[in-house]
Amino acid sequence: MGRSFLEGILNAGVLTKAEVLLFGNSKNAGLRQEGYNVAHSEREVLQKSKLVLLAFKPLQFAAVLEKLRGIDRENPDLIVISMAAGIKMDTIRKQLGDVRYARIMPNTPVVINRGMITIAIDQSGKKITPAESRELFQLLEILGTVVEIDETEMDTAIPLHGSMPAYLYSFARAFINNALKHGLDEEKAKTLVTEAIIGSACMLKNSNRPIDQLIADVCSKGGTTLAGLEVLQNNGFEGIIDAACDACIRRSKELSNFFVPLQKFIK
Ligand SMILES: NC(=O)c1ccc[n+]([C@@H]2O[C@H](COP(=O)([O-])OP(=O)(O)OC[C@H]3O[C@@H](n4cnc5c(N)ncnc54)[C@H](OP(=O)(O)O)[C@@H]3O)[C@@H](O)[C@H]2O)c1
Repeated sequence: MGRSFLEGILNAGVLTKAEVLLFGNSKNAGLRQEGYNVAHSEREVLQKSKLVLLAFKPLQFAAVLEKLRGIDRENPDLIVISMAAGIKMDTIRKQLGDVRYARIMPNTPVVINRGMITIAIDQSGKKITPAESRELFQLLEILGTVVEIDETEMDTAIPLHGSMPAYLYSFARAFINNALKHGLDEEKAKTLVTEAIIGSACMLKNSNRPIDQLIADVCSKGGTTLAGLEVLQNNGFEGIIDAACDACIRRSKELSNFFVPLQKFIK
């Protein structure tokens, strides 16, 4: 995800390679070969930057934040953006200190600049100025649609966009598998399913008809769609989606709680 951000922003020409400093853990040697400036440590990145994107896994946070403790004394004007599921800005602040914070949740279509990114800007500590906030939005908008939310809404938002690609691909795969079972060529099945999803998503986005009406529009009485929809309804389709979203949200909350024991363990 970090690489997608980097490439999306560099490809748009907003920043040059020379303006970016990276630390990529085991990927440092490869990054140097690609001509990137690579720091000697995570701390060096935060010492020398105006804006830092933390793009490692939530379970790696405790160990990395420990190395960045008290960075506010070395770079008080820093803006730190985390994309980690579940890790609260307050948790990061406890280690890094009084710098400025924002939290984002992207999804994988940022790779093709069609991502959906939510952003929560910290309101409790030192503030990101309106001008900086505009610049930040402009940067993120290169990668897709940006919606500002409150940090308290982050967990709830994850299944709706961060995790959605995986859910939607699973949904699509089930349809493709059914077509294969009935002898349709895989490539054709994929085209049919993909184009139907894109078209329907555009309708959902642009039509002012309520969602129930859009569903009803496809369902002729006694027709094919209704026959299938009844099977979905009778087998708890919406209940399954509801449970999947709840599990996703629960996991995000667990990740934020997990940070505490892990942090104790490291100390
Ligand atoms: N994947 C998604 O769809 C998605 C969506 C929304 C948000 N996110 C968030 O994005 C973050 C990255 O997820 P991902 O799926 O891209 O994971 P990933 O492919 O495992 O990438 C994580 C990267 O972090 C690097 N890393 C580990 N320790 C580091 C350190 N100390 N300093 C610098 N880099 C370090 C890892 O390098 P090594 O391999 O060398 O350890 C790895 O390249 C996570 O916080 C996740 O919650 C992901």
